[in-house]
Amino acid sequence: QEDEDESPSKKLVTDHSVKVARHYNDRQDVGLAARSRSRIFFMRNFNNWLKSVLIGEILEQVRAAGSRQVSVLDLGCGKGGDLLKWKRGGISHLVCADIAAVSVEQCQSRYEDISRRSHPSERLFSAQFITADCTKDLLSEKLDDAQLMFDICSCQFVYHYSFESEQKAEMMLRNACERLKPGGFFIGTTPDAFELVKRLEASDSLSFGNEVFKVTFQSKGSYPLFGCQYHFSLEDVVNVPEFLVYFPLFEHMAKRYNMRLVLKQRFSEFFQEKVKKEHHRQLMMKMMALEPFPSHGKGHQATDTSGEYSHAEEHCGRAGVRLPVGTLSKSEWEATSIYLVFVFQKMS
Ligand SMILES: C[S@@+](CC[C@H](N)C(=O)[O-])C[C@H]1O[C@@H](n2cnc3c(N)ncnc32)[C@H](O)[C@@H]1O
Repeated sequence: QEDEDESPSKKLVTDHSVKVARHYNDRQDVGLAARSRSRIFFMRNFNNWLKSVLIGEILEQVRAAGSRQVSVLDLGCGKGGDLLKWKRGGISHLVCADIAAVSVEQCQSRYEDISRRSHPSERLFSAQFITADCTKDLLSEKLDDAQLMFDICSCQFVYHYSFESEQKAEMMLRNACERLKPGGFFIGTTPDAFELVKRLEASDSLSFGNEVFKVTFQSKGSYPLFGCQYHFSLEDVVNVPEFLVYFPLFEHMAKRYNMRLVLKQRFSEFFQEKVKKEHHRQLMMKMMALEPFPSHGKGHQATDTSGEYSHAEEHCGRAGVRLPVGTLSKSEWEATSIYLVFVFQKMS
């Protein structure tokens, strides 16, 4: 799949979007049983929990501001991993867009499945599915309803693909923001460039990572604002080129669309704040977002590698701690703590 070793002239025309689309199109939808055997089962659930909390809280704010018919754009929807979250949130209309045609097809058939299984009394949101490179194509020209305006644009684990060039980042941002209603939100999750560079600078080589993820840069010491590429691989999940998103620049660019940054939080901070609320904790249990430790006869921990649960062992040793506790292995925590949550709001 890599074009890196080919002639310099070919290299000049390399468009990473093509690689990204090919990568996601080739990925199989493995189903629940296989997912539950994955080394990063709990981390994936944790990330899903975090998105659920973010989406739930933003929907509450949209409703509090008086919106009844909520329209959402899921930018980089993938196979539709967030469809049930939108169903739970009771939205009215969803537009799903992604560069990977196979993912968009799977997203649409997942939507049709949910629709078939829904009780007739619970009206599922209407939906449109668009295959498009959102760093190049203008989505507003592809909407079935040319007048449609969105309450929310959700861009989960996607925006970093656009920072390949200024034009691409600009088009992705335009797609995210130009059809937002005044007061509407642009929300998402993306790696924190500061954290990536900090870990790179602390490493003896051009890579860092552990048994679940690996990040490899091409050089270090100098980081261009656009096109600062690194390679990210996460156990059997992602293995594609990504680009640093220098957040102050992202924030500056968003101002052109009248967007004000209202929240930027590392996953670790977001978790620590949200876990204080009982209903978020209950959702964590339901979504199996943390791994029970010790597992005591209920199967093995996610890994046998020594030291991966030393933090949990230490915690369990404290007086008054009820067992089992919920945790993530150190490697999973190191991987997920790279990310941040952002929320922008369109000013009127
Ligand atoms: C890590 S997946 C996240 C999928 C989904 N948002 C989720 O949270 O489950 C990243 C997605 O971004 C999509 N993507 C990457 N570059 C894109 C582009 N230029 N235009 C549209 N989608 C893109 C990929 O095809 C992939 O589905």
